[in-house]
Amino acid sequence: MAGRRGRWGDDRSGEEARVGAIYKNAARYAKSRHLFEEARKVIPGGVNSTARATWSGWDPHPLFVEGGDGAQLTDVDGNTYLDYLLGLGPMILGHRPKAITKAVVEAIETHGTVFALPMAAEIALAEKLIASVPSLEQVRLCNTGTEAVLYAIRLARAFTGRRKIIRFEGMYHGFSDGVYWSKHPNPETSGSDRAPIPVPQGPGMPASIADSLIILPWNDAALVREVIEREGADIAAVLTEPVMCNTGCILPEPGFLEALREITHKAGVVLIFDEVITGFRLALGGAQAKYGVTPDLSTFAKGLGGGFPVAAMGGRADIMSLVADGTVSMAGTYAGNVIAVSAANAAMATLSEPGLYDRLYEVCDRLRFGLEAVFRDAGIPTRVAGIGPVFQVWFSDHDIRDYRDAARHASHSLFRIWWEEMLERGILFHPGAFENLFVSFAHTVDDVDRTLAAAREVAQIIRNR
Ligand SMILES: Cc1ncc(COP(=O)(O)O)c(C=O)c1O
Repeated sequence: MAGRRGRWGDDRSGEEARVGAIYKNAARYAKSRHLFEEARKVIPGGVNSTARATWSGWDPHPLFVEGGDGAQLTDVDGNTYLDYLLGLGPMILGHRPKAITKAVVEAIETHGTVFALPMAAEIALAEKLIASVPSLEQVRLCNTGTEAVLYAIRLARAFTGRRKIIRFEGMYHGFSDGVYWSKHPNPETSGSDRAPIPVPQGPGMPASIADSLIILPWNDAALVREVIEREGADIAAVLTEPVMCNTGCILPEPGFLEALREITHKAGVVLIFDEVITGFRLALGGAQAKYGVTPDLSTFAKGLGGGFPVAAMGGRADIMSLVADGTVSMAGTYAGNVIAVSAANAAMATLSEPGLYDRLYEVCDRLRFGLEAVFRDAGIPTRVAGIGPVFQVWFSDHDIRDYRDAARHASHSLFRIWWEEMLERGILFHPGAFENLFVSFAHTVDDVDRTLAAAREVAQIIRNR
């Protein structure tokens, strides 16, 4: 399916690049519409991040938020939703989690916010992270997932003395120039399926970076092996999400992560797991604990701070020693600030509660399998793909194992109907078919049953359209 080039070079194949859509029930969102019109006068695109923009699916305008509480979010028009957007992932404990808010407020009131000097609480946090995540022998804090990935790559290059990075088409690793490539390119103009070319997210990114990237399809271990056998002497790292969460949700096929581990280990290539979404979400130890595959370096952000901005990068002590001796600089005025550290310490304390993730998976599985049943009963070809608290509904009669499958076979127009009808029934998630639904620890079985009841009605609408 030929794609239409969206802004930022993000080529949403076919239907995703809808322009000029209207909400069926526009009056319901009138105040949001008004605020959006005001916002556009002073904020480019009316929003402060691409993922909230009209061209990312919030078409004709995003909802403006009044506030959140637990699993609920209320917009400025007074509509209340069960929230499966969860701030795109950080609100893993729901909105305004009391223990985290209290810890942060106390820390600010007792200590302050930024000192540019270390505090004891940073040691306690690093110890907790190392105890929880299998690959971490040492860990550094930073502020965003983008920074964490940037540092991991720099470190891998410094450690190996090599230049190239293998990364997979359809993934997102933050917006730095070095990796903001080939997120959702047009498959018909981005090289062959087995040898995609690097496609920059947009103008302003140095073309020369293309030379340092090898873009591959996800889930094809034989191809990774072939490329590393051919070019391994020049390859510093394989950078991957352990579960692909930036083209909907695509699971690693059995043995794929293990193969990456084996191939990279043999070739002296650094294996980086970008666990910005999966970290502290799939398990306390992230996807690496869930799948039992230990990378050399990993990055964390969203799940780590209970809704406060904090990120981390860490791994093997011999690699991190380049940070220890100053060979590789990880700087940052706000890195390890009091708000971030107190939030992450409190979040880690909450997340370490025994049995918490088992209960989370019970709620999530009820939702995921429930949705599968809803669509099956309605005779609508879908794939409800994901694991535990992160998943997406593909309106597709094909299995989806990599980005190009999704670009070619997932219907964005059906997804839009699904999204808007669910929104009208008080269920919120991102309107982009290539985003995800997130479930928090605050969601209950009753919330899931309410969601499934809404989904049953919407499935009939889709069937009868
Ligand atoms: C896998 C992954 N890596 C990195 C990032 C960038 O994180 P941040 O938005 O905190 O810069 C994201 C953000 O969505 C992500 O999903």
